[in-house]
Amino acid sequence: MITLGIESSCDETSCGILKDGDNVLSNIILTQEIHSEFGGVVPEIASREHNKFIYEILEKALNKAKVEMDDIDLIGVTNGPGLMGALMVGIAFAKGLGFSYKKPVIAVNHIEGHILANFIEFDIKLPAIVMMVSGGHTELILMKDFGKYHVLGRTIDDAAGEAFDKVARILGLRYPGGPEIEKLAKKGDENYLKLPIAVKKELNFSFSGIKTAVMYYYRELSEADKGLHRADIAASIEKAIADNLLYKVEKAVDMNKPESLIISGGVAANNYIRKKFEEFSSEKGIKFYAPPLKLCTDNGIMVAKAAYENHIRGTATHNLNPVPNLKLIEV
Ligand code: KG4
Ligand code: ZN
Repeated sequence: MITLGIESSCDETSCGILKDGDNVLSNIILTQEIHSEFGGVVPEIASREHNKFIYEILEKALNKAKVEMDDIDLIGVTNGPGLMGALMVGIAFAKGLGFSYKKPVIAVNHIEGHILANFIEFDIKLPAIVMMVSGGHTELILMKDFGKYHVLGRTIDDAAGEAFDKVARILGLRYPGGPEIEKLAKKGDENYLKLPIAVKKELNFSFSGIKTAVMYYYRELSEADKGLHRADIAASIEKAIADNLLYKVEKAVDMNKPESLIISGGVAANNYIRKKFEEFSSEKGIKFYAPPLKLCTDNGIMVAKAAYENHIRGTATHNLNPVPNLKLIEV
């Protein structure tokens, strides 16, 4: 069975082609560089760029996979969460393809796509604790089975990726900030600036306090000290985000005794965080999984995987309306 996944919820235009549940035939991703000059994603520009390039991305994905539209059995498209206009472009495109080539089109929850990206390569024992960390979401999930998710905690303000992006902006780095902070942090001292664990009692997260603390601290530094300590601050924020995530992950693991720990979403591309999660898991005696780097940030293949899994389990959603604040269905 060949599934085409279409992703356009934010600033990546992507088409991925998956054979059965585990054979990636192609995964073409176009990251819209244009937003870096604005310090964040501009919704109107994102929609227009998706519109401009989505057909070309599909052609590339088909060519790389050496298949034609007639060979596709199923089309999956992200219908939320994400930017309204951006989602609409992908959905309209998918509907058009479905109508022209007489293919079934199903809606995919972007968060489920991020989670299932891990299951393409790995055979993961469940239940698992999933730490889903992206630019728009920070959700701590107990995954009992495919389609059976229970959200244990989420951010009450900024998402983890958003915290990376905002601190990067304070430090004068480009958008997206996560990869920039990671690069700079390699040369810094992670113990330079002590940042707290927020909302200790709950499984919810908060990152806006950390960001504000960095902002005030950095503002007071002389120009010379700013230059001297940017890398130290980057390393400190990276450590603080990792510590905040793991503090709650540990509680969730102790409470639920899962077989596995999974990290997913754009922030899962961070090598420091991956290493910390790996160390934590081996101390706890559970297996740790993170997607290959290319499948951490938004991509079409994670959408194809979620479409495929929902299709074979009979849980597919055919309602193709865009839902910007779509939640993960909890069971
Ligand atoms: O999953 P994603 O591509 O889009 C959303 O669904 O939001 O995640 C993008 C986020 C951005 O905030 C970006 O700064 C962050 O993931 N990110 C990283 C890294 N690569 C991307 N954060 C930390 N370290 C990275 N290497
Ligand atoms: Zn995403």
